Amino acid sequence: MVCFRLFPVPGSGLVLVCLVLGAVRSYALELNLTDSENATCLYAKWQMNFTVRYETTNKTYKTVTISDHGTVTYNGSICGDDQNGPKIAVQFGPGFSWIANFTKAASTYSIDSISFSYNTGDNTTFPDAEDKGILTVDELLAIKIPLNDLFRCNSLSTLEKSDVVQHYWDVLVQAFVQNGTVSTNEFLCDKDKTSTVAPTVHTTVPSPTTTPTPKEKPEAGTYSVNNGNDTCLLATMGLQLNITQDKVASVININPNTTHSTGSCRSHTALLRLNSSTIKYLDFVFAVKNENRFYLKEVNISMYLVNGSVFSIANNNLSYWDAPLGSSYMCNKEQTVSVSGAFQINTFDLRVQPFNVTQGKYSTAEECSADSDLNFLIPVAVGVALGFLIVVVFISYMIGRRKSRTGYQSV
Ligand SMILES: *[C@@H]1O[C@H](CO)[C@@H](O)[C@H](O)[C@H]1NC(C)=O
Ligand SMILES: *[C@@H]1O[C@H](CO)[C@@H](O)[C@H](O)[C@H]1NC(C)=O
Ligand SMILES: *[C@@H]1O[C@H](CO)[C@@H](O)[C@H](O)[C@H]1NC(C)=O
Ligand SMILES: *[C@@H]1O[C@H](CO)[C@@H](O)[C@H](O)[C@H]1NC(C)=O
Ligand SMILES: *[C@@H]1O[C@H](CO)[C@@H](O)[C@H](O)[C@H]1NC(C)=O
Ligand SMILES: *[C@@H]1O[C@H](CO)[C@@H](O)[C@H](O)[C@H]1NC(C)=O
Ligand SMILES: *[C@@H]1O[C@H](CO)[C@@H](O)[C@H](O)[C@H]1NC(C)=O
Ligand SMILES: *[C@@H]1O[C@H](CO)[C@@H](O)[C@H](O)[C@H]1NC(C)=O
Ligand SMILES: *[C@@H]1O[C@H](CO)[C@@H](O)[C@H](O)[C@H]1NC(C)=O
Ligand SMILES: *[C@@H]1O[C@H](CO)[C@@H](O)[C@H](O)[C@H]1NC(C)=O
Ligand SMILES: *[C@@H]1O[C@H](CO)[C@@H](O)[C@H](O)[C@H]1NC(C)=O
Repeated sequence: MVCFRLFPVPGSGLVLVCLVLGAVRSYALELNLTDSENATCLYAKWQMNFTVRYETTNKTYKTVTISDHGTVTYNGSICGDDQNGPKIAVQFGPGFSWIANFTKAASTYSIDSISFSYNTGDNTTFPDAEDKGILTVDELLAIKIPLNDLFRCNSLSTLEKSDVVQHYWDVLVQAFVQNGTVSTNEFLCDKDKTSTVAPTVHTTVPSPTTTPTPKEKPEAGTYSVNNGNDTCLLATMGLQLNITQDKVASVININPNTTHSTGSCRSHTALLRLNSSTIKYLDFVFAVKNENRFYLKEVNISMYLVNGSVFSIANNNLSYWDAPLGSSYMCNKEQTVSVSGAFQINTFDLRVQPFNVTQGKYSTAEECSADSDLNFLIPVAVGVALGFLIVVVFISYMIGRRKSRTGYQSV
């Protein structure tokens, strides 16, 4: 790793640039920009190459690919201040210059634009160039990233404009780094999101983006957590997430075929964690109260929304799904777990047992009151039906009697 001081950039204090040159073959660029307090303010690591087409003196076109960056400097890279946004400035090879600009909004930051300059006057890279001079291509990107998230895009991104094709891959970048610590929260580009869909045995999985399918009842899935070889937590449920943002509710059904469960079981708490390509985690934390009952105490979610932003919320003061230890909690009717004003989970055909699962099977169920109401209604309905049947039979009998009597009379 090489560290050097840059000239003080007006308004941004003294900037210390440390660059780690990647393995020579991969040409990865890396920049760890620190502010005057030696705290990281911008971190980036990425790979790129360029293909440039230019006109030669004999009126034909040549293309040249620039992938070996030679000596790389990062002069002019800044943390940003009130007037200027952060900037990564890279100089490499004979006369190449590359600049990326960042801007910040309330809860997001953006990779705003990339500007690439090359000098056709350099006759080692551009021999016989007809026009000699510095050419620049500007690309507006406007990639929005949640603040405090590290942007990752391992997939290949291609930018094409006039005579230049730019390729980027293995990109990691975070501007506006908080407290000098690069975030462990990653925000994936769309291409990475679709290419990292967890492999499942069911190959006919539709689009990985859980498109809102309101009103339709979610399919129930069975999730379990193991402790060694034994199942220690069981949950069967259809889950529907209801996220309200800017007064708009998005209702998302969880597809159990593409959702995986993990977790942990302890004597007084149990965790069920669900993941899918769009759900980073959805945690259900169960606790024991009074040494004789369990309940759902906490829900903690972080998921990608369709527009790419990350939605995270947690509540550890819940009280749902209350049942005696050694039994399971069951509710076939739709129930709502209200995690916050902005986030609710609608459950369907729910059965859950977070403690004392024996032989991988549910114990007897304690049903929710909504279901018991239904159970209470069943005898009433049966009674009414039975009463009705008796009346029908009696009437039929009376009619039959009268018919047979008239029959006798006519003979
Ligand atoms: C960046 O540099 C700072 C200060 O030298 C160091 O504490 C930090 O770990 C570095 N971060 C990365 C990701 O290399
Ligand atoms: C920043 O780090 C350098 C060495 O990397 C050290 O000499 C300098 O005193 C540090 N500055 C502050 C403000 O901590
Ligand atoms: C990027 O920032 C520099 C300096 O802050 C500015 O001169 C340039 O116009 C910006 N580029 C774009 C495309 O916004
Ligand atoms: C490149 O340019 C230099 C001076 O500008 C010249 O001396 C040299 O011959 C040129 N090389 C080629 C291959 O044209
Ligand atoms: C940065 O530090 C402040 C105060 O220590 C804290 O309130 C804030 O949450 C931290 N931000 C991040 C992203 O860790
Ligand atoms: C788990 O099962 C395997 C094979 O059935 C057995 O060899 C192993 O001892 C079991 N482990 C425990 C902790 O029961
Ligand atoms: C979603 O939440 C909003 C706001 O709480 C509510 O008005 C709406 O009825 C909910 N939709 C469903 C399907 O639960
Ligand atoms: C899940 O898989 C089952 C069996 O392969 C299939 O019948 C069902 O339609 C799938 N559900 C969804 C939501 O894709
Ligand atoms: C995504 O949409 C939500 C609400 O619709 C909004 O609050 C959020 O800022 C959006 N995120 C991005 C990155 O556009
Ligand atoms: C939610 O999960 C995140 C990541 O595991 C964790 O940092 C956070 O503390 C959790 N929140 C609560 C309230 O447990
Ligand atoms: C937890 O919820 C209960 C009732 O729902 C409330 O009385 C209590 O203040 C809450 N505690 C916290 C820390 O929010």
